[in-house]
Amino acid sequence: MIENKLGAKRMAIVYAITGLVVFLILVLLGLVMRVAQAGMLGLPPDLFYAVMTLHGLGMVGVMYVGAYVGVWYLTAQHAKPSLGLFKFNYVLTLLGVVGLIVATLIGRFGAGWYVLYPLPFMGGWPSWAAGAAVISLILLGVSWLLGQLDIIRAIASRYGFTNGLGWNYIAGNTPKEEMPPMMVILMVAMLAGALTTVVGAAMLMLYLAKWLSPELALDPLLMKNMVFLFGHTLVNITLYFGVAAVYEMLPIFSGRPWKMNRIVAISWNLAFFLVLFAYFHHLYFDFGQPNAVQYLGQIASYLSTVPATVVTVFGIFAQVYRSNIKWSFVPLAFVLGICGWIVGGLAAVVDSTIRFNLYLHNTMWVPGHFHTYFLLGVVFMFIGVVYFLMGPKEDKLARFGLWTIAIGGYGFVTSFFVGGLMAVPRRMSNYDSLPVAAVAQAGQSTASIAVIFILLIAVGALAYYAAVFSGVKKAWAE
Ligand code: HEM
Repeated sequence: MIENKLGAKRMAIVYAITGLVVFLILVLLGLVMRVAQAGMLGLPPDLFYAVMTLHGLGMVGVMYVGAYVGVWYLTAQHAKPSLGLFKFNYVLTLLGVVGLIVATLIGRFGAGWYVLYPLPFMGGWPSWAAGAAVISLILLGVSWLLGQLDIIRAIASRYGFTNGLGWNYIAGNTPKEEMPPMMVILMVAMLAGALTTVVGAAMLMLYLAKWLSPELALDPLLMKNMVFLFGHTLVNITLYFGVAAVYEMLPIFSGRPWKMNRIVAISWNLAFFLVLFAYFHHLYFDFGQPNAVQYLGQIASYLSTVPATVVTVFGIFAQVYRSNIKWSFVPLAFVLGICGWIVGGLAAVVDSTIRFNLYLHNTMWVPGHFHTYFLLGVVFMFIGVVYFLMGPKEDKLARFGLWTIAIGGYGFVTSFFVGGLMAVPRRMSNYDSLPVAAVAQAGQSTASIAVIFILLIAVGALAYYAAVFSGVKKAWAE
């Protein structure tokens, strides 16, 4: 366990508060986009895309960092991650975020969160804005890579590298000292993260070279493969961090241990390989890709849902079935979060099916599925961990907030799914220019309905914030 326990807790609190504040601001940006798509606000397209890029990159970043902070703090209860690096990464992350705000809101950089090549270099915004965005992303990537390597180091020095991956359980050698399953999930997730962050870093370095020497021509298909290998894995390991926290913390409330065993170890080791190949489903429309990897994309997407999800769902049942669990805020947030992960994951599997993708590609179905597992999955797991960290005595208020966010959230994502099924394209600053009147109408009306649900989410979030912030002073002191 880490020696400076209070220091670790305080730093986790600083991260958590920053994350909660940034999250709310990004929700407001999301509201602004939906209001514009509903036709209630005339937002110039360049501003809409700058807002969309900041919202997308910011949300993915805040979810990743939030989930990382949760598991960093939990790892510190068993092993010794570096507190100094944790603090350093806070500064690096802040610098990256400030850079992105400047690039988007001042420079109007609007290439979307994939920053797909060659768009960053030909979108009509000033060259400095593209440079600022690329350098900011490099800063964030460096801090994330360092953080991932540090957790791998901490777990490996506590349990050994291969044991940290649960290979002793796979080989049938149950160790004398039991290992928390969270450790295996984290080893797998951090390794996948570190490998693919290196790929993301290489891509960003090429972008930097292109920015410095505009005559340089990069291979767009290679860049697309690199960005999706990095981005898709990042999103998945963010979810794995949340799930790891649930494995670790649900037993506190159920009173039943969640033990490591061979099946858990095999499942999460398989998840490592499958998560790396599923990203091909983002490239079905890239006909230059070899056919074999298109099929591999569909197969890996299907298989990747099985080991981790099935084992986790059985584990959750084993935890709660007839356990007399008291449904206070934290376990409720965790179980709802797992539900959001599964619903969003199933919607992702639908979209990763080549036949369905022909119809759903780049429609609102896509933001529908990832908003489900982020907003109703990762966010719930994150706010559960933060509540536990702060330990306030406002459970009723927090639960009111949770249910309000859940109702608002499912209403909000349904507007995306319905829009997708009605062929409404994603990433439109407004729908006036759509040639098919019925689709434009569907886009506007689903966006108008979404606005009401987003306001509900904001109300729920404020109730949760009021509950959780009432505990900050005490949590800081102890
Ligand atoms: C109440 C909360 C939220 C609202 C109102 C909101 C709203 C929106 C809207 C309107 C879009 C544009 C959709 C389109 O036309 O393509 C969008 C895109 C996006 N949102 Fe959210 N969102 C919310 C929460 C989140 C969360 C929790 C995440 C977590 C990662 C997230 C990540 C993204 C991403 C990655 C994009 C895509 C940006 C792009 O296409 O480049 N959002 N959001």
